[in-house]
Amino acid sequence: MSEILVAPSILSADFNNLGNDIQMINSSEANYIHCDVMDGVFVPNISFGIPIIEHVKKIATKPLDVHLMIVNPDQYIEKFKKAGASILTVHYEACPHLHRTVNQIKQAGMKASVCLNPHTPVHLLEDFISELDMVLLMSVNPGFGGQIFIENTYEKVRKLRKLIDQKNPSCLIEVDGGVNYETGAKLVEAGANVLVAGSFVFGADDPLDTIHKLKLV
Ligand code: DX5
Ligand code: ZN
Repeated sequence: MSEILVAPSILSADFNNLGNDIQMINSSEANYIHCDVMDGVFVPNISFGIPIIEHVKKIATKPLDVHLMIVNPDQYIEKFKKAGASILTVHYEACPHLHRTVNQIKQAGMKASVCLNPHTPVHLLEDFISELDMVLLMSVNPGFGGQIFIENTYEKVRKLRKLIDQKNPSCLIEVDGGVNYETGAKLVEAGANVLVAGSFVFGADDPLDTIHKLKLV
């Protein structure tokens, strides 16, 4: 099995000291900085947008993994590229013309990723998986940090692993929501490559050590 990648979600960072938290991630073994953009329409919460991402990018030494929980993402693809995104994730449920959206993300020079909500089945990606650099499986309903992990996610990861091994082995499987040492270990066993963790990292006494241990689950 290849290296497990860890993406701390700054949704749970201290926004009065965001610079410190970005420096912490810079000095950690984390692979990406996960940025959760919420519009209050696709999800029942509003987080932050392009100006914050531009500021994060100025000091970040890790690639920005930007998770768009917004309707009509197409109109912002270029803007997120300019703001500094390396990976751009859009939701299956928010994109009626997903093939076009994914191609626009790749043409803009970013890795393209599609996210599935907990109720959206993996097989919907069957005819499309070869186009993707990453699939993000939500293991909570998107909108908030600190929620309880949905157990059915393990089964979804196993199904997705099978599909990816058959059709696009280099595509990554990222999981987001309720990740800790226990859920993280089971997700990796099921076939996940990338673990997003918000409250588990930023709520820890020692976030650096938590990131280190998550990479070893
Ligand atoms: C939820 C976000 C997550 C969130 C995860 O909608 O997409 O990235 O920050 O938070 P935890 O790890 O606390 O469940
Ligand atoms: Zn996220």
